[in-house]
Amino acid sequence: MMKQQRNEGLTIAAPHFIGLLMEVEQQAKETIAGSDKSAEELRILLLGPKSELGRLTKQIRQVPAAERANVGVVVNEVKQSIQHAIESREVTNLRSNEASHSWFDVTAPGIRPPEGHLHIVSQAISEITRIFERIGFTRVRHPEVDWDWYAFESLNMPPHHPARDEWETFFIKSQKRKVESGKWKEQNALHSSLLTSDFPAMVLTPHTSNGQVREMEKRKLPIRMINIAKCYRRQSDVSHVPMFHQFEGMYIDKGVTIGDLTGVFNFFIKNYFGPDRKVRLRPFHFQFTEPSVEIDINCGICLGKGCRLCKEGWLEMAGGGMVHPVVLKNGGIDPNVYSGFAFGWGVERAAMMKSGTKLDDIRLLYSNDVRFLEQF
Ligand code: DAH
Repeated sequence: MMKQQRNEGLTIAAPHFIGLLMEVEQQAKETIAGSDKSAEELRILLLGPKSELGRLTKQIRQVPAAERANVGVVVNEVKQSIQHAIESREVTNLRSNEASHSWFDVTAPGIRPPEGHLHIVSQAISEITRIFERIGFTRVRHPEVDWDWYAFESLNMPPHHPARDEWETFFIKSQKRKVESGKWKEQNALHSSLLTSDFPAMVLTPHTSNGQVREMEKRKLPIRMINIAKCYRRQSDVSHVPMFHQFEGMYIDKGVTIGDLTGVFNFFIKNYFGPDRKVRLRPFHFQFTEPSVEIDINCGICLGKGCRLCKEGWLEMAGGGMVHPVVLKNGGIDPNVYSGFAFGWGVERAAMMKSGTKLDDIRLLYSNDVRFLEQF
């Protein structure tokens, strides 16, 4: 009887029990925040069998049976919440300990970020420019998307001339232009055959020779130009890229001879490749030069004796010759008074030849892979 009475007297209503749990949780969290005890000590103090929570958990039997399960859920939630508070205090302590113990020397020199450098082709362009500047040539720029007139027709290659085939050209179907300025009228008259036929009149310049007549049109003589620009051809394989660079030299004055071409080229070769190198001119054909030559350079390995690399001692380099009278006339220059030479060559090839780098795929130059580019 006594026993029963005691049990009844000790019944704890569920809401009251939950209220007690909330208080325990609150106190536990305050203890955690203000304590410098270890996590393990806190766990024993706040979650162990002798803790407030442990004591209260044992009294769950006094909650009416029907509500015991719900109260049990709350007991577990409170346990987890206290557990979590202990763990997160542990992490925060760890961080602040680290911060207060790690030492940072503000006077130590910094770590240099990786520094880039100019692309191998840009390096070659500035070097080539500097060499020609020393003998009075000026670097010029002309459009890289140009009228067919400048890229072909003015260079003595009329529409449909078979010589054009060599420059695997990207043509652009251009709209017929409204003729406004006198200059355009003049040009339309000159190449009216192109503008009135279906033949497209604009190209991505397949060579830097488009700069020849454009330079002559500036009407400033003598001309000593070095035109370095992008060129485009429909080609892509291990030794060709669709976009590459050429440098085009042209010298026009009274009494210029092919001897000047040899002299200028020798100067360039010796300065760019080294004093042992020589040039040789070989007869060739271009529509825009007469006579035309291909310019060879003696091999850097055998110096002209013949080796496995070059076979006969010479490596083919540039194309050139004396500017054709028709081209001079197209640029408004009297071929009976003036003469000149011109030559053109690939910047990529020059750079490769100079560095002695035998690329098994020239397209690597433009694949933007730093592992490759940082070697130069
Ligand atoms: N434009 C020629 C080419 O792309 C190279 C060339 C040949 C340029 C003869 C010249 C020249 O100025 O006179 O292959």
